[in-house]
Amino acid sequence: MKKRYVTNSPGLTPDLLSLHKNNDAIDYKSDKNSFFSFPCARHALYYAVEALGLKQGSEILLPSFVCNTVIPPLKRRNLKLSFIDMTKDGKVKWSHAEGLISDKTAGILWHHYLGNSDGVEEAKSFALKHGLKFIEDCAHALFSYAGKKEVGSFGDAAIFSIRKTIPVTYAALLKINNDKIKRKINVNVVDLDSAYSLHLQKTEIYHIRNYYQSISPDKEIMRNSFMDHLKEAGRFHKEPDVVFPIDELSKTVIQNADGVRIRSVRTEIYSLYEKKLKKSALFNTLRKGSCPLAFPIVVKRGRDALQKRLEKEGIETARYWPKAMLPDGVVKEFRNARWLADHILTLPCHQTMSAADAEYVCRTVNRLL
Ligand SMILES: Cc1ncc(COP(=O)(O)O)c(C=O)c1O
Repeated sequence: MKKRYVTNSPGLTPDLLSLHKNNDAIDYKSDKNSFFSFPCARHALYYAVEALGLKQGSEILLPSFVCNTVIPPLKRRNLKLSFIDMTKDGKVKWSHAEGLISDKTAGILWHHYLGNSDGVEEAKSFALKHGLKFIEDCAHALFSYAGKKEVGSFGDAAIFSIRKTIPVTYAALLKINNDKIKRKINVNVVDLDSAYSLHLQKTEIYHIRNYYQSISPDKEIMRNSFMDHLKEAGRFHKEPDVVFPIDELSKTVIQNADGVRIRSVRTEIYSLYEKKLKKSALFNTLRKGSCPLAFPIVVKRGRDALQKRLEKEGIETARYWPKAMLPDGVVKEFRNARWLADHILTLPCHQTMSAADAEYVCRTVNRLL
């Protein structure tokens, strides 16, 4: 089998570069009263708490298997966090959530894990039943639908991390759906400093590299030179209330991105994986309309070794999320969250992959498993 190089993220393709007349704002849906742009979803979350009027000291429920980047925005707003137990296939245990409700509970955050919209109605019903504000975390789910309804339209507020699905440097959204919620949000936008500008430029080059890799799958393109750079990202976005402006290239890319096509390519790649790797798949089904972020497999033994072997074979993968990326305390308290953190590996599934790439990944995974 001929070696191929498959990136974990989509590349910056030429069709994303045509210039628009009005490039002032992200202007995602021309509805400036409902959409607010931020560099990362963590900032959107910080400002969502303000918009929703969640009071200091009140409590918010969230899945125990969740990325720790959502914690600082909530803590900075002085909310108390209460984690919900999960099943081993990554679903929230609603019976456990019922037991956590107290007179202090004011909200719940629920995420479309890896873009899969399955379960959103149940989460919304739970919020309604208990009179909680519902924060719909769509960080992984740009362009996803739940059946016929767009994700991001269920929550009182919804957050998106655009950069996880399309090749932009930093771009995210807060969407407010509840008419009773205030629409004036005072965002603290700061000037770019030179270190951050350099970081943005390197990230742009990384997206271009991913494009070259996708059109030249038989030779490795500059992967190693980006590894340290990618780790650097967290340094610039530590403070959830400090918001850098969105760069011009990202705005252009967002305006050109074709959500329908992106969802369709991702769904096709995902189905190919489902056929060939069914036994290892985390989800029984991907909810119809979902725009998958990746294909999660459960590796019972030797997950990290498999990830390294795949990298040697040219295949980039990720772990959503390893133990180090879970919120403090969760690893000790929640066995299933820990189990998921230790066993999930996500295979690349994006719009600059070809069917041949996905075939190569499947064959390699099946050979190594
Ligand atoms: C479920 C979830 N929500 C929110 C975030 C935060 O997104 P961002 O990195 O854009 O702040 C992440 C980040 O990985 C995430 O996985």
